[in-house]
Amino acid sequence: MPIILTGFMGVGKTTVGCILANKLGVPFVDMDLYIETCRGQTIAEIFEQIGESGFRLLEFQILTELLEAEENAALVISTGGGIVETAECRQLLAQHEKVFYLQDTFETSWQRINRGGPGNNDRPLVNANSKSQMAAKYERRIPLYEEASNYLLDVRQTDAHETAEVIRKMCETE
Ligand code: S3P
Repeated sequence: MPIILTGFMGVGKTTVGCILANKLGVPFVDMDLYIETCRGQTIAEIFEQIGESGFRLLEFQILTELLEAEENAALVISTGGGIVETAECRQLLAQHEKVFYLQDTFETSWQRINRGGPGNNDRPLVNANSKSQMAAKYERRIPLYEEASNYLLDVRQTDAHETAEVIRKMCETE
C-alpha cells in the first residue's frame, strides 16, 4: 500500500515525502505538481479558471487514479493540504493503512507559507484569506486530517529527515 502524507500547507509534506521515497527506493508523487503537470497550469491558474470546487474535484479524480493503479502499491504520495476538505477524499484515504498526518503549529506553517507578500503567493488560498481566516481553516481541518489519517505525527521538534526516518521505521515494523 502506498504511504500517504497529509497535513496543513507548509508543514513539509513534499520535503518529507521526497526524502522518504529516496530512502525506500520507491517513486514519489507530489499531488499538486502532478495536477499542474497534467493540466499544464499552475495551481493558481487552475483556481482562477475552475475555482476551488473545480480543483477539489481534480484532486479527487487524481487521488482515485493514483490509489487504484496496481503499480502504485509501492509509492509515497504527498497530498495538497486541502484534500481533506472533500468527504470522498477523506473516505478514500481512510481505507488506506499508511496515512500520516504531519502536524505543526499554525504559526510555523504561516511563517513558511506567507511569503511573497499580498497577492504574490503561489498558494491561491493564502492570497485570498487573512492570517486569522487561515488560522480558522487550520483549526477546522484538524478533525478532518484525523478522520482521514491513521497516524498523527507531531513534527514541531523534528526536521524533515528525522520525520522521514520515523515514518520509515513505523512502516518497517508493520
Ligand atoms: C491547498 C494546499 C496546497 C494546494 C492548494 C490548496 C489547501 O497544497 O493544494 O493551494 O487548500 O490547503 P500544499 O499543502 O502542498 O501547500
